[in-house]
Amino acid sequence: MSEKKTFYITTPIYYPSADLHIGHTYCTVMADAMARFKRATGYDVRFLTGTDEHGQKIQTVAEKNGVTPQQYVDDVVGRIRKLWDTMEISYDDFIRTTEDRHVKRVQQIFMKMYDKGDIYKSEYEGLYCTPCESFWTETQAVDGKCPDCGRPVEKAKEEAYFFKMSKYQERLLDLLENNPEFLQPEARRNEMINFIKQGLDDLCISRSTFDWGIPVPVDEKHVIYVWLDALTNYITALGYPETEEMMDNYWPGIHLVGKEIVRFHSIIWPAMLMSLEIPLPKHVLGHGWILLEGGKMSKSRGNVVDPVRLIDRYGIDALKYFLLREYAFGQDGLYTNEVMLNRLNYDLANDLGNLVSRTVAMVEKYNGGVVPAPKVAGEPDADLIEMGTTTAGRVEMNMDKFSFNMALEEIWKFIRRTNKYIDETAPWILAKDEASKDRLDTVMFNLVEAIRIISVLINPFLHHTSVKIREQLGIAEEAVAWEDTARFDMMAGKTVKKGEAIFPRLDIEKEIAELEAITAEQMAIAKAKAAKDAGIEPAAEKELAPLKPEIAIDDFNKIDLRVGKILSCEKHPKADKLLVSQVQVGAEVRQIVSGVAAYYTPEDMVGKSVVVVANLKPAKLRGEKSEGMILFADNGDRLEFVTTDAPDGEMVK
Ligand code: ME8
Repeated sequence: MSEKKTFYITTPIYYPSADLHIGHTYCTVMADAMARFKRATGYDVRFLTGTDEHGQKIQTVAEKNGVTPQQYVDDVVGRIRKLWDTMEISYDDFIRTTEDRHVKRVQQIFMKMYDKGDIYKSEYEGLYCTPCESFWTETQAVDGKCPDCGRPVEKAKEEAYFFKMSKYQERLLDLLENNPEFLQPEARRNEMINFIKQGLDDLCISRSTFDWGIPVPVDEKHVIYVWLDALTNYITALGYPETEEMMDNYWPGIHLVGKEIVRFHSIIWPAMLMSLEIPLPKHVLGHGWILLEGGKMSKSRGNVVDPVRLIDRYGIDALKYFLLREYAFGQDGLYTNEVMLNRLNYDLANDLGNLVSRTVAMVEKYNGGVVPAPKVAGEPDADLIEMGTTTAGRVEMNMDKFSFNMALEEIWKFIRRTNKYIDETAPWILAKDEASKDRLDTVMFNLVEAIRIISVLINPFLHHTSVKIREQLGIAEEAVAWEDTARFDMMAGKTVKKGEAIFPRLDIEKEIAELEAITAEQMAIAKAKAAKDAGIEPAAEKELAPLKPEIAIDDFNKIDLRVGKILSCEKHPKADKLLVSQVQVGAEVRQIVSGVAAYYTPEDMVGKSVVVVANLKPAKLRGEKSEGMILFADNGDRLEFVTTDAPDGEMVK
């Protein structure tokens, strides 16, 4: 057994069906911050992440890309690992469900449940949502759509193995009703309780209509259902059921997951653990979603924010700070570039960056860069010292509740307090009078001590920034010890040295414009990829006609556009390319000649409500009067109707 208290935290294992976006990064950044924080506060931590590589979704996307599922996932997983490496995510283990260690242990787990009599063979008949990889009954589906993601479900009918989940219904209900700390947030707990109360069906745990999965050990025609395969990662990565040491040390753990997969983690997973007779997770913590103005981010829809672009521009710590500070755990939050950039400017560049650069510059100017010992105490010192040496406790309290944003807010309260201390003590005034030298020394010492404490407090969250600050304070080589946040006596005699700005101030408008351009490009690429994955051939690149010269609104207003309804239509008696239509425009019926006979028959035209240029000078076209023009969109190969539901005669403007 490990000597220290242990702490085991996991993220979901992500599907390598496409590159990860800022939503996945959000969850991993929280887990990383928690792991670093627990290590800093004396725990023996195990932090697990990984990838969920089997299942119908992956098999389908690989086929669409013309590669084997293994080739497909190897490629995406390579990029996922690179993302975590770039972000210096401090995981202790990265599990891939295609690894041998996982595959054989999943089969052993299946056999344990099978030998216990908890698995039986029958036939599945119901619905399946491939994006969620979840089974639904007709009554659970909402208008033929998945109740979780709203996408269409498919009918499935196949021989399958079932897990006797119904057997554990009462214990699951007891778990959720009587252990409020097991599943958070509270709203999800009530939802899960209701779900169980409606009656749990036995769970289909094998598929036989595709083969990208772990074979069922007793029946090679079947592969194990991807969620059963995936959920077990939390214990196969600890060696279960082959070895005990890590299980003894670290299990049970804490699962950090997005709210949409809370059901799998708080019902199916505990039921499996009950069957295996091993302890249940300490907590399942469901975090909220990061939403875009258009709704939830979706890899397949291509409306995603790419973390790599943000890191390239602003650095790892900026992205981590924003994610941890902006969103309240358990609640959804909106992502906009403006909100993010404001956070970086106000909190990082102004509050923290300025504090460090002002203080270091003053110590260089007033003390030749050597931090003086404190001498004469003054009025605001006690408050600064008290707040500095007790902030760690408040950070711990918030971290215990997974309130990352409030933990950072506590640190920033102290940062702002320290900035205020500069205003209160006005060192530039003290420096003018030799008689105030001792007081000035104390002020400089207090400021440097405060910044040292800040460098320790932010270390689990922003460790690059912490290191940068410690370099400027001349203590980069010294160990960062959380306990030292309770001290206020460490910096006398150290030599400070001004470095680059910790966070440069950003020109928000310029950044927004550039980020929008990047996003547009990114979305176009993602959409093209999603279309390819869905088997849709991209339209050939087309040269668009150049824009006509600019006109003023008055020029536009001269054109009278109206809705017209085509009442009847005939071929032009003398010209093959022309059709002659009778168009109702309000009270009048106009005859309009259009050059569209190559694309439409007179029958195609009749009944359409179209847009008409109503004040075009009448003309004769090969002898037929034409009183206006019907608008069409020209896509190069064809002319398409510009139709509307508005009644005829109405203005189009
Ligand atoms: O569900 N906002 O994998 P997945 C916040 N393989 N978090 C988001 C998010 C968003 N917009 N989008 C995704 C799976 N996430 C399964 C898990 S675990 C045994 C198997 C995060 O690739 C969030 O944590 O769809 C969510 O639960 C996870 O990514 C889903 O990742």
